[in-house]
Amino acid sequence: PLKVIIDTDPGVDDALAILLALASPELDVVGITTVCGNVPVGQGTKNLFRLLNQLNPPSGLLVGQGAARPLEEDLITAIQVHGSDGLGELDGALTPGGMPRYPAVRLPQMLPTAQDVWNECIRRYPDEVTLITLGPLTNVAVGLKVNPLTVQKFRAVVAMGGAIGVPGNISPVAEFNMYVDPHAAHRVFHASLPLTLVPLDVTTRVGVTRAGLEAWVAGSPHPIGRLVVDMTSKAFDFAEQVEGHGLLYFHDPVAILSAIDASLMRMEPLHVDIEMVGRVSRGATVADRRSRKPEEKATPNMHVAVDIDADRALHLIRSRLCPWSS
Ligand code: BDR
Ligand code: CA
Repeated sequence: PLKVIIDTDPGVDDALAILLALASPELDVVGITTVCGNVPVGQGTKNLFRLLNQLNPPSGLLVGQGAARPLEEDLITAIQVHGSDGLGELDGALTPGGMPRYPAVRLPQMLPTAQDVWNECIRRYPDEVTLITLGPLTNVAVGLKVNPLTVQKFRAVVAMGGAIGVPGNISPVAEFNMYVDPHAAHRVFHASLPLTLVPLDVTTRVGVTRAGLEAWVAGSPHPIGRLVVDMTSKAFDFAEQVEGHGLLYFHDPVAILSAIDASLMRMEPLHVDIEMVGRVSRGATVADRRSRKPEEKATPNMHVAVDIDADRALHLIRSRLCPWSS
């Protein structure tokens, strides 16, 4: 299996992505690190532990906490989408007897940093580890500065983010992860890393309605099914009441899928830059697709997922998250 580190801002679809990765034999998850984004990083770390407490994570899994703020901007969270805790307000979920359904989370007293975890994983498996980022690119940008030898030893870096030929989600032109820390994205885009971007162009092709997800989860033989319904309920409210389409998009799970089965997506080598300062255009990812003779073309700095077999992707997500249902 492919060794991966997941860098994440949990987040409802982050949590689903982690479930998907841990349920997939193609991947060996050796580390999970958190970053600020959907929620402040401490809350994200709590959410990660809440999730891991419900699962059987691999015994050697390393967990660490990363950046608390973007490189230059103030943190903007997405609690309007993910709920005030970032995970569908699970603290308020009660059993029929009125007891809290999910026990309070205790963090370990000593928590390594994200960079510590990356260093240790690379020490164990140099050139073997793929880093998959599901949040703002702050930890990677910090790593490039304080830890370049480690970051350069990643086999590949896969980042969920950007909107190339489709509208944004946090602004008309920007995708959330890019918008939150555009300076970090800029540093990463220009670092000559073996980078793959998984943008909204493909992630918004893979989604499920509330009724659809409830049907997947129905008859779940273990508590994960309940957790999936509880943690997604606020995100469905947002999709129904604000966005109007009612679909929960599997943004972060689709990034994981690209590592599970590359044949699901068509990748295009492109030169992509990011707007850092624009009043209207902050966080916009701009691909240079001008017609140019080969020798005049801008050198690609990443591969971008531009198309996806959406039916097969959705089926794979369902079969891994809810194996009893498919
Ligand atoms: C991205 O933004 C976050 O809210 C999601 O978790 C995902 O990583 C989608 O734009
Ligand atoms: Ca995320």
